[in-house]
Amino acid sequence: MSMTALRLESVVRHYGAVPALRGVSLSVAPGEFVALLGPSGAGKSTVFRCLTGLTIPDAGTVSVLGERIDRLRGRELRALRASIGLVFQQHNLIGRLSAIDNVLTARLAATPLWRVLARRFRDADRQLALASLHRVGLLEKTYQRADSLSGGQQQRVAIARVLAQQSRVLLADEPVASLDPESARQVLRTLRGIARDQGIAVLCSLHQVDLAREFADRLVGMREGRVVFDAVPGLLGADAEQALYGDAPAPQAAGAAARADHAPCHLAGAPETLLSD
Ligand SMILES: Nc1ncnc2c1ncn2[C@@H]1O[C@H](COP(=O)(O)OP(=O)(O)O)[C@@H](O)[C@H]1O
Ligand SMILES: [Mg+2]
Repeated sequence: MSMTALRLESVVRHYGAVPALRGVSLSVAPGEFVALLGPSGAGKSTVFRCLTGLTIPDAGTVSVLGERIDRLRGRELRALRASIGLVFQQHNLIGRLSAIDNVLTARLAATPLWRVLARRFRDADRQLALASLHRVGLLEKTYQRADSLSGGQQQRVAIARVLAQQSRVLLADEPVASLDPESARQVLRTLRGIARDQGIAVLCSLHQVDLAREFADRLVGMREGRVVFDAVPGLLGADAEQALYGDAPAPQAAGAAARADHAPCHLAGAPETLLSD
């Protein structure tokens, strides 16, 4: 079995008296594109903050690329963070810089200061940046200012930057929330593509169940700080949306939801056969 790239186990986290995560377990394998679904306040962003080490759980464990990020501090934490690619809803790019210069910012940490000041990146870094822009279908926008690109194109530049960073994992917190449907689909298609071709583990939060069904390998639904389903799209019942957004009280846990609805959902860690197409 391949190593899990991202894993939360029984993670509990409160903000003061407010429970944000009430025992969340989920995992993402290399090359897998997992959609994290749920209404506002479900705890999705808190999952991302745990995975970047910005938030330490009250209980449970958080691993990234086999390392316990919830235990790392200082230099080790920074080193692991450098291998985590991030894409957010907005404020991803520096607007006055070109697409390629934004992608090259991924190489800053590995570039001597004089090269940064002289804007003389190594040829290898430029090649990597160009290949990354090509991969997201934006080679022809290489020298265009980021703030002149559409929202969807900007998100794809942000994905190219993650590729140039040579991250093995990508965390995308609502990357399509402010995009029109066609741009959203293009961004999700790009994310699915890089997961498959490059073996990157992608965890992407979304509001739309239909988009998740179309693009994700697996759907994890959260509500009120709990995972209420974890299933491949083909096995997810029509009641998935109801479980997330319906008026009924949230199911207590994924196992309970699966039993109560006779929905063929399963918990994280189910047999591999269920997780492949
Ligand atoms: N910094 C914070 N301080 C206090 N409460 C917070 C903070 N961040 C999140 N919360 C609370 O934790 C819960 C989960 O929030 P969040 O993880 O942002 O959910 P989502 O991303 O799914 O909308 C919510 O009830 C939210 O109000
Ligand atoms: Mg959020």
